[in-house]
Amino acid sequence: MMTGRQIVVVPDPAALAYEAAQRFTSLAREAAVSRGHFSAALSGGSTPGALYRLLAEDPYRGQIPWENVHLFWGDERCVPPDDPGSNFRLADKTLISHVPVPPGNVYRVRGELEPEEAARSYEKVLRKFFAESSTVNSIEPCPRFDLVLLGLGSDGHTASLFPGSRALNEIERLAVAVQANYRDRPTHRVTLTLPAINAARQVLFLVTGDTKAGIVQAVLEGPARELPAQRICPTAGQSAWLLDTAAANLLGV
Ligand code: 6PG
Repeated sequence: MMTGRQIVVVPDPAALAYEAAQRFTSLAREAAVSRGHFSAALSGGSTPGALYRLLAEDPYRGQIPWENVHLFWGDERCVPPDDPGSNFRLADKTLISHVPVPPGNVYRVRGELEPEEAARSYEKVLRKFFAESSTVNSIEPCPRFDLVLLGLGSDGHTASLFPGSRALNEIERLAVAVQANYRDRPTHRVTLTLPAINAARQVLFLVTGDTKAGIVQAVLEGPARELPAQRICPTAGQSAWLLDTAAANLLGV
């Protein structure tokens, strides 16, 4: 049983997108004021597009301090940035090309490279950004994203951390290359590792639809530590699950 997590149930995917947009906006504004920058790792798949489109429209577009926003990805498929399977392409078409985020603040995973090269290149970008932007000159064990958006696969994966993957045991690197067959999606991917995700100040799961009800119940109320999404436990941050009624249908809450 996962404890200490906020679970928010809203009526439908549209309501979930609004709730997520509110949270993204307030986190961005707070981070910009207190730290001068807001680092967010975006997710992919079919769920977050509605959120990204909302953020690209007022009132949210006008409320977010885009000059202080730095966009990363929780995972990326190893495809070119204009490929329909690219998580960067999803965010670019629904959000990035519609808002004044500086191009230099968008740190896509270079999916066009060989997977291991893409992972190492992304790791370098992450470490450089967080080394330069850390306002605390501590030797923080791991860079801290202000926000990591996550989805949940029907097999319990999140980002591109899949059941049984060696990536789940990675404790040093921030990003690794993985292979996974999931639906009709690209097999080769780069994903943030558990240390990178669990160092975040805020992790926000976005899950909708009755096809996810079973896995949501297994992750949130089933035996612990068996599913990758159960390994998401921010060490010094918060995690919240935004669920629509259909996805939350089997929960005992
Ligand atoms: C990806 C995502 C992945 C996604 C889940 C849920 O690259 O595919 O990051 O982790 O969030 O597979 O996908 P849906 O939102 O399409 O159900």
